[in-house]
Amino acid sequence: MAGPFQAVKVTDKVYWVGAIDWDIRDFHGYSTNRGTTYNAYLVMADKPTLIDTVKAPFFDEMLSRIASVCDPKAIRYVVSNHSELDHSGGLPRLINLIRPEKVVASTMGVKALQAHFHWDVPVQAVKDGEKLDLGTDQLAFTEARMVHWPDSMFSTLEGAGVLFSNDGFGMHLADSRRFDDETPDWHTEAAKYYANILLPFSDTVLALLDKLAKAGFAPKFIAPDHGPIWRKDAAKIMSLWAQWARQKPTNKAVVIYDTMWGSTELLARAAADGLASAGTKAVVMPLRGSHRSDVATELLEAGALLVGSPTINRQMFPTVADCLSYLKGLKRKNLTGAAFGSYGWGGESIKLVHDALTEMGVAVGEPMKCQYVPDQAALAAAYALGQKVAAGLKQLS
Ligand code: FEO
Repeated sequence: MAGPFQAVKVTDKVYWVGAIDWDIRDFHGYSTNRGTTYNAYLVMADKPTLIDTVKAPFFDEMLSRIASVCDPKAIRYVVSNHSELDHSGGLPRLINLIRPEKVVASTMGVKALQAHFHWDVPVQAVKDGEKLDLGTDQLAFTEARMVHWPDSMFSTLEGAGVLFSNDGFGMHLADSRRFDDETPDWHTEAAKYYANILLPFSDTVLALLDKLAKAGFAPKFIAPDHGPIWRKDAAKIMSLWAQWARQKPTNKAVVIYDTMWGSTELLARAAADGLASAGTKAVVMPLRGSHRSDVATELLEAGALLVGSPTINRQMFPTVADCLSYLKGLKRKNLTGAAFGSYGWGGESIKLVHDALTEMGVAVGEPMKCQYVPDQAALAAAYALGQKVAAGLKQLS
C-alpha cells in the first residue's frame, strides 16, 4: 500500500519508517508539549526485517513509509524490542497483513505481548547475546531489562554499527527532521525523558552502559523509538545518560509551592533569596502552572528540593500532593531540602510535606512555618531556611 508518507534513509540498508505525533500533549502524565515520534525501522537485508512498529492509530502512516521502500509483504522478520503500546500497537495488524516468517522478542517480551494481545501468534524468544541471521547481515540482541520495562531489549545491526535502542536514548520531540545534528536543541527534551521515564531505573541503566562499554561497543548510530536518530552525538547521549544515572547533586535548588492567599508564595520567594545569597541557584516553580514532569526535569540536574504548601482541610494542597506522589515514584537520590508553608490554625500540611520528603530519602532539617500572613520575622526565617539548605547542599556536593 503506497501513500504519501516516505521512508527516511539512515544507512545504506536502514530506513526510518515510523510516524510523527504532532498532537500528543500528555503521555501518561508526562507533558509532551513538543509532541513525539514513534520510530520504526526497516532493515533491507536478504531477509527484510522490521524493528518495532508504531502506536495503533499511526499504522497506515508506517505502512505507507514501508511501501515507499518495498512491498510490506516482503518483510520476513519482525523484531519487537519493547511491548509498550506506543511501539507494539501496530503489531497485530502488521502480522495479519504480511504474515512474516518470524516475530521475535525477549523472553519477557513474549509474555508481555501475549498479555497485551491475547493472540495465537507464535513469537520466538531470543536471549541476551543471541543473533538473528538476516542473510547478508546479523542482528544481535542485548537484554535491557528494566530500561524501562521487564521486556526491554536492544538490537544491533552488526557491521553497520546501528543500535536499535527502543526507549533508550529517546525523547519526546516531534520534528520533521530525523537526525540529532538537524535538531540541536534536544538537551531539555532528552533530560526530561530521562528524568520522567528512566530515573527510577538508574542503577540498571548504569549496569547496562557498563556492560556495553566492557564489550567495546561504540555505535555509529543510535536509533531510538522516540525522537531524533543519533548520528553525531551517539557517544554524548550515552555519556549524558551515565551522568544523569549517577544523580550527583549540583549547586541548584528547586523550590516548588502552591499558595491560597499568597503567604506560602512569599515564603517561597524569601527562601529562594536565601538560597541565592549563599551562592545556590534557585528555580522557583509555582505548581499551579508548572507541570509535575517539568519539576522532575528541573530536579534531574539539581541538589535540593524545597516544598511549600498551605494547609487545606488538614491536608497539603492538592497540587503539592500530586507532585510529591509523582516525584516519590521517580526515586531521585542525593537530595537535601526542606518543607515550609503558611497555615491558619492546624498547620498539618507542613508536617505532611516534611514526612513525605523524609520518606523520599531527601535529607531534610526542621521545617519552617508561619501562621496566616508572614511578618518580617517569618520572612527572615524563610530566608534563613534557604541559606541553611544551601549550606547542606555544599556538604552533599
Ligand atoms: Fe515508548 Fe516504554 O514506550
